[in-house]
Amino acid sequence: EKEKGLIRDSWESLGKNKVPHGIVLFTRLFELDPALLTLFSYSTNCGVAPECLSSPEFLEHVTKVMLVIDAAVSHLDDLHTLEDFLLNLGRKHQAVGVKTHHNTQTSKMTMRLTMIFGEKSLLYMLQSSLGPAYTTPLRQAWLNMYSIVVSAMTRGWAK
Ligand code: HEM
Repeated sequence: EKEKGLIRDSWESLGKNKVPHGIVLFTRLFELDPALLTLFSYSTNCGVAPECLSSPEFLEHVTKVMLVIDAAVSHLDDLHTLEDFLLNLGRKHQAVGVKTHHNTQTSKMTMRLTMIFGEKSLLYMLQSSLGPAYTTPLRQAWLNMYSIVVSAMTRGWAK
């Protein structure tokens, strides 16, 4: 349908430059919530966010995130085939949060905040790279896809 076309068309150019766009996304994320930086064990190797985001470990994670988005965009017609992968991915991130917080309640909250900030950061990245092509229907289309991905990750988290 129309939403899928909007996502595919906008990803066509963004997806060719995953790392730079991923850096824009994560720069915004760490601006919104600097504490998220400490969830990465390797954040001890760097100081402030901009420095971290140029380190190989962080760049690798940025790349992984962009590849997940890429997979979601290529599977818009059959997102359910990613379900197991996303459940598992959510579970892996739960382990990250739990290790840092020692307390499941706090880490669940962190996950929720992360998802909210993640949404804002994704939209920020889209807006700053698409300029006038960033329209309300496009924004809505991306939000819908994002919420499907996040809801699968969160279900894996809950298990
Ligand atoms: C792995 C943290 C968001 C996709 C990891 C790892 C950490 C981590 C610590 C393990 C070390 C590594 O591979 O670098 C976080 C934090 C996030 C976040 C703190 C939010 C602030 C995301 C998002 C996605 C994602 C939004 C994709 C939608 C992945 C993937 C892996 C990974 C694909 C590799 C998993 C594997 O080893 O199989 N993440 N992550 N991450 N993350 Fe994230």
